[in-house]
This record gives sequence, C-alpha cells and structure tokens, in this order.
Amino acid sequence: MYLAPAGAAALTHYDRIMDQATSPGAAPTTPAAAQADASQPVIDLEKRYLLQNYARYPLVLVRGKGCWLYDIDKRRYLDLITGIGVNALGHAHPRILRVIRDQATKLIHSSNLYYHQFQGPLAAKLCETSGLQRAFFCNSGTEAVEGAIKMARSHGRKIDLQKFELVSLDNSFHGRSMGALSITGQPKYRTDFEPLLDGVRFVPMGDDAAFAGTVNARTAAIFVETIQGEGGINPIPVERLRLARELADRHNALLVFDEIQCGVGRTGRHYAYQHAEPPVLPDIVVLAKPIACGLPLGAIVCNEKAAAAIAPGMHGTTFGGGALACRVALEFYDILDELLPQMRRAGEYFFDGLRRLQKRFGFIRDVRGAGLMIGVELDFVCKHLVAEGMKEGMLFNVTHERVVRMLPPYIITEKEVDRALHGLSRIFRHAKPPEA
Ligand SMILES: Cc1ncc(COP(=O)(O)O)c(C=O)c1O
Repeated sequence: MYLAPAGAAALTHYDRIMDQATSPGAAPTTPAAAQADASQPVIDLEKRYLLQNYARYPLVLVRGKGCWLYDIDKRRYLDLITGIGVNALGHAHPRILRVIRDQATKLIHSSNLYYHQFQGPLAAKLCETSGLQRAFFCNSGTEAVEGAIKMARSHGRKIDLQKFELVSLDNSFHGRSMGALSITGQPKYRTDFEPLLDGVRFVPMGDDAAFAGTVNARTAAIFVETIQGEGGINPIPVERLRLARELADRHNALLVFDEIQCGVGRTGRHYAYQHAEPPVLPDIVVLAKPIACGLPLGAIVCNEKAAAAIAPGMHGTTFGGGALACRVALEFYDILDELLPQMRRAGEYFFDGLRRLQKRFGFIRDVRGAGLMIGVELDFVCKHLVAEGMKEGMLFNVTHERVVRMLPPYIITEKEVDRALHGLSRIFRHAKPPEA
C-alpha cells in the first residue's frame, strides 16, 4: 500500500490514486514483492493509463543530488546520461534551487504579450557566446527545429517560390514533430508518419560530391547536426562543415546547425562548431536540452539575414521563454563560464580512461565524441548493457544499437569519472552479445 509522505496534511489526488493502485488486489504484485520493490505499483499504474510509447527502464527515480540519482527503493546511481543531456549542473544545484525558489514567488509565466526582465539578457548571452545576432525562445528541441524550418521556407520564398528545398544528412536526428521528422535522416523514426514535408533531400555523410550535387538554387537551407547524437555520437568533420558553409553561401541558402544535444557547453566550448579553427559560423543554431537545467527551454539563435525571414506575427509560442526558465538559464550561464575549464579536464580524463579500456577489450571498436559527449562503439548490439549498468549503480544509455552513450553532468569530477570507468570495466569484463 502506498503511504503518503510523513507530514502531508490531506490526501491529494496523487495520494488517492497511488492508494487505489497499491491497495491489495489492485496491483499485480504480491505484498512481499511490493514491499521489496516499491517501484512496481508506479510502473503498473503507468501501464494502465499512459500511452505506451516509451520502453522505460524499470527504475522509479525520486531525487537527485549532484552527480547522483536515487530510486524509490533508495538505490543510488551515478548519472551519466542526465536526462539525455539536460541536467547540466547535476541535481539540486544550490544556485539553481535558489533562483527557482525566488523566481517562483515572483513570476513564472506571463506569455509573449508582455516583456519580462530575463529574455533580453539571456538573448544577449546567447548572441555573445555564439557570434550571432538574434534569439527566439521556445520550449523544446523539436520546436526550435520547427522554427528554423519556417525561417528557411520564408527565406527561400522571398527569393523564389521554387526555393523551398531542405537538405539534411543521412543518420541525423532533429526531433519528433512533423517538420523535424521530415529532415531526420533515419527511416525508423519517419516511416510510420509519411508522407512528411515535401522537398527534403538527404545526403550521405561522407559523400562530398553528392552533397555538392544536391545543394542548388532551390535549396532554402542546409541542416547539419554538428555532432550526431541519436545517430551514434558522430562528429561531422570540420571540412564537411566548411563545405556546407560554402554551398550555402554559393546558393544563398541558410546554414542551420542543430546543437540541441552537442551545444551549450557540452563539448567544452559553448558550441561544437567553435572547435573548428577558424570556427565555421552557421546562419542559425538551434539549442535546447541543458539551457535551463531541466526546465523546458529551447532557442533559435541566428544572424540578421536569417532573422529577416520572420516578420511580426509569423511565428510565436505561448509558453516559450517564460520568466522562470529564462532566469534559471541566466544563472546556468554564469556558472557555465566558471565550469568550462574543469569540464574540458574531466572530459579528457574520461576519454583517456576509455581509450585504456579500448586496449583491454577488443570488442570496443571506437571511442568518440568531444568533451562530455561520449560514445563507445562496441562490435555487437549492446542495449542489454544498460541494465548491467543499473546493477553497477550507473545510468547511461545505448544509441544506434551498438554505442554506449554518456552525457555526464558538467559538474562531474575526476573522482566520479574513476567510478564510471571502474563500473564500465566490470561490465565489459562480463559483456557478451545478447544472442551468445
Ligand atoms: C540533435 C537533436 N535535435 C533535436 C532533438 C529534439 O529535441 P526535443 O526532444 O527537446 O524535442 C534532439 C533530442 O534528442 C536532438 O538530440
């Protein structure tokens, strides 16, 4: 039976529903099992009422502190995935908590009908760090991509009604809404929802001739995920970023970098495109995940040329850029500036350790990524290792079937990295392909 937290005054809807779900006979667990595993009623209730679109791991998380997460059964896990690259400052960071508490008592949301004090300074920070000039705020990655697609279409249409094509790379991932899916270069995400947007052309990542042959006067924009995340942590080589820039310039198309997973400090620089020397500047960069440390916030940052595509009334959002999320993001940026050097050190330390593991375990094909965006590719399908990780007290996931993906919090230190390497080496020692 579910027990309301001690001190709770009256039963809430949450208490009542959990009580029903866990009363004898309601939950399909034995009393002994329910006692041993408090997660089961939570899982059963979700199975009954939620759209079954997620294949969740059987873990009910209740709180976090720093780099660690705790489940309902009080087990502790080193968080190496941070809610897929979102909890940049780990959990319960005191400065983030302080501004959330303070701002929540003042103003959470006011819509984009009015001004509040935080969008302007945050936009200035995004422009200053990116080398671009204007920002728009939304709530998620896929929404930022949708906005960029609208900018591209409007930019093209102003030049020629036939200039509406979007060029994207094979193996990319840009989000789950219809526009973002349309430019996502992985059929497994798209096929069930076709037909999608017209005029999207995909090019293989390594084929420069095909790339050059695909971009032409009809191209409104080229979309590149600077480091492909869902596609298996594949950094796009600098020469290809430069080629994309050249092709966009030659054909008056916009160049859009999707840095929703790899941007905002994740690789040890503000943006992954800043690792190129000299940097390859896009016309638009789209961001989301870590900016507001777990509160939903996305952004489009662009130059004046791209901004000219959107006039008043052409785009907007009710929730995007709310006072609470923007204030948290400003606090995050203050902390990020101080953290970047240590993040680079921790990232290098992690990569060095993983390369040592690669020498020991012949099935590790590759260790790649940048900073704290890390992929370890094995030579077998390895989704089952996620559960082994949980038994070892660490959370990571597997992307593209064979790539162990880690997106640790920016506050990770060498001490936690040692813990992660030790855990991985224990997992790899017993790792076998699932069919073996
Ligand atoms: C590169 C990239 N683009 C877009 C998205 C979509 O972001 P969201 O899930 O916030 O809509 C993701 C999410 O994983 C992503 O990694």
